[in-house]
Amino acid sequence: MPIHLDDTSHVLVLTGAGISAESGVPTFRDAGGLWEGHDVTQVASPQGFARDPILVWRFYSGRRAAMAGVVPNAGHHALVALEARLGDRFLLATQNVDGLHLAAGSQRVLEMHGGLMRTRCSVCDRPAFADTTVYRDKVVPVCGQCRERQREALLRPDIVWFGERLPPGVLDQIAAFITAAGKTLVFIAVGTSGEVYPAAGLVDATREVGGTSWLVNLEASTNASSFDHVVLGPAGRELPALFAP
Ligand code: OAD
Repeated sequence: MPIHLDDTSHVLVLTGAGISAESGVPTFRDAGGLWEGHDVTQVASPQGFARDPILVWRFYSGRRAAMAGVVPNAGHHALVALEARLGDRFLLATQNVDGLHLAAGSQRVLEMHGGLMRTRCSVCDRPAFADTTVYRDKVVPVCGQCRERQREALLRPDIVWFGERLPPGVLDQIAAFITAAGKTLVFIAVGTSGEVYPAAGLVDATREVGGTSWLVNLEASTNASSFDHVVLGPAGRELPALFAP
């Protein structure tokens, strides 16, 4: 049954790896997921990068290479259509770094965990730049615009690693949307295991302002009991049905 939306409804959508699963992008925690065979702290922390930047670049280069030919699916497209209906009463916060929401045509998107196809300096604050390069073994790119204690500063993927802060302003924008929406807020979490904060706490923030929450996931996530409505199934099938006008 479609989610009831009226002329005052504000929709905040949070997506995780599950929405891209039907496009062929592996999730993190499911069997065969991205962390399998990798210690998270080795490839997704500043300490891991300092210890072994070659390993880290090999991991993200592999993920970049795996994006070749990957396209958005019906779940991503359903969110584009919903945004077209709601305009500024829509906000999409994604934990995904695959860029598929932007590729589908979503505009009001906050990439909470950065972007796989962007690179930035690990030292200076030059802006992140588009980069699809797959770095071969033993190659670690350097900044070329700054030096750290007389050494070349290393470039790194523009990804938010464990223990790092989210991109500036992202949480403020989400909080402002939730506050402005109040009771008219409809929060929809899609394809996320509910294990990583602050994203996992948005369902509680929704309850605090009197909004309504929906979970659309293949299976009950860790925080499923916090949601008002739970729809179990693949996002590519469930989202178009939930947003049918
Ligand atoms: P997870 O891999 O933790 O969870 C993916 C969720 O999607 C699981 O609950 C699956 O059941 C569900 N799922 C799988 N296929 C689906 C489908 N076709 N339709 C709907 N749901 C499906 O991924 P995230 O929750 O996104 O952070 O992980 C959160 C963060 O943890 C990631 O952004 C990443 C990771 O550490 C960073 O890299 C900073």
